[in-house]
Amino acid sequence: MPELGEPDWGRDLSAFVDDIFSRDYQGLLKGVEGILIAYRNQDVRTLMADQTVGNIPLDFVTMTLNEKLGSRGEGWEHFMACNVITMTPPLHAPARQIITRQLARGKVAAFEDLVDQVVMDVAREMVGPSGTAELDLQSDFAARVTARFWGSLLGLDVEEQDLAREMADEMSLGLQIDYPAADAERADRGAAKFMDVLSAGIMRELDREPHPMVLQMQAELEDIDLPGRPATVGDLLAANLFDGMHTMKTGIANVVFGLLDNPAIKKEVDTDPQLIEKAVKEGLRLYAPVSFTGRVTFADVTLGDCVIGEGTPIMMLWSIANRDPNVFDQPNTFRLDRPTGPQATFGGGLQVCPGRHIATMVAESVVRLWCTGGIEIELEEAGPWLEATLAQQLISLRVTMSVPGD
Ligand code: HEM
Repeated sequence: MPELGEPDWGRDLSAFVDDIFSRDYQGLLKGVEGILIAYRNQDVRTLMADQTVGNIPLDFVTMTLNEKLGSRGEGWEHFMACNVITMTPPLHAPARQIITRQLARGKVAAFEDLVDQVVMDVAREMVGPSGTAELDLQSDFAARVTARFWGSLLGLDVEEQDLAREMADEMSLGLQIDYPAADAERADRGAAKFMDVLSAGIMRELDREPHPMVLQMQAELEDIDLPGRPATVGDLLAANLFDGMHTMKTGIANVVFGLLDNPAIKKEVDTDPQLIEKAVKEGLRLYAPVSFTGRVTFADVTLGDCVIGEGTPIMMLWSIANRDPNVFDQPNTFRLDRPTGPQATFGGGLQVCPGRHIATMVAESVVRLWCTGGIEIELEEAGPWLEATLAQQLISLRVTMSVPGD
């Protein structure tokens, strides 16, 4: 099996896609330290749906940060331990269900008005009395939208929302492929503060005015009698809301960027709001916010001619599977005239992202309000893309935003 080599990860995904899919050998590749790399759409989808290809356990996930720190990163470890993405059977399924039940498609439909309200409130605050302002759509606008949405839902105050937003940024330093000890320290401290602030805020609100959704989650958590279970519903929610804030923010920015970069398509969507759903799906395909995550085999797994031994870590390149030319014609272009699937943006199988419905709804709300004239967004300057990190994320997305009529 050939090696992946050292692609220029992140700087130019299109060049990486063109390179990897034009190699003579197509199939799993070898990465560093025994890790296998899955990038073809069919391989990624087969592996993601395989029940014996599960989450990478906590000690493996925290290893890099601990090595960088030269000691145990307790903030990072606590955050990761409470995050469903490091949970393995038998804890994984019941802990995950606590979240998926509340974020099922039917349930999140009830949040639609709140989402629209939050998007418009944040837009008005950002543009101020003049009704127009230059800002970073990702870090100024989308980050506030996501923090405000969860904050409003859970009763967190503005100070807590602001802290969570800032700390999520610090934590994202821990998503880099390689980083200096100083970044590990910031990610670790950020994680500790993020967990403290969110978890304490959620538990305080639960005491003050019992919230039906959080109460139900708490009861389900208390029913789990397994080692490694998060101690409180505040801890469980906080850890899993890192994606709810950071990844969702990136998703909004990537979709808006896709439309700003393709003005003819934006015009089409303006004239036909039925296309909003398709445009958001295509934006999330082309610029999948989670470039890759790891899985590990819990048993020997056969993929075509290849037998993958038990205990093998596999890097699942979601963003590359989304650009497989065997599935998506002209994969590096934003097109509405193509089937929307089969995408790997949100992973799949027993680990499929529980936040996919709410993340899609929030991005659709921003696009809808933009295409129907509630807000206006003009591109000033975009990029570049962050390099060598798990997120496919623009460093900045400078725009002029206006709220007409305000
Ligand atoms: C555009 C936004 C998002 C994208 C692209 C995304 C993507 C992903 C991906 C690729 C995975 C790995 C799935 C797998 O291994 O099959 C994942 C897992 C996960 N995501 Fe998301 N996510 C997003 C938003 C969210 C939100 C809003 C939340 C929380 C509210 C969330 C919570 C989680 C959790 C808890 C897992 C672990 C699931 C498990 O292991 O069972 N994500 N996400």
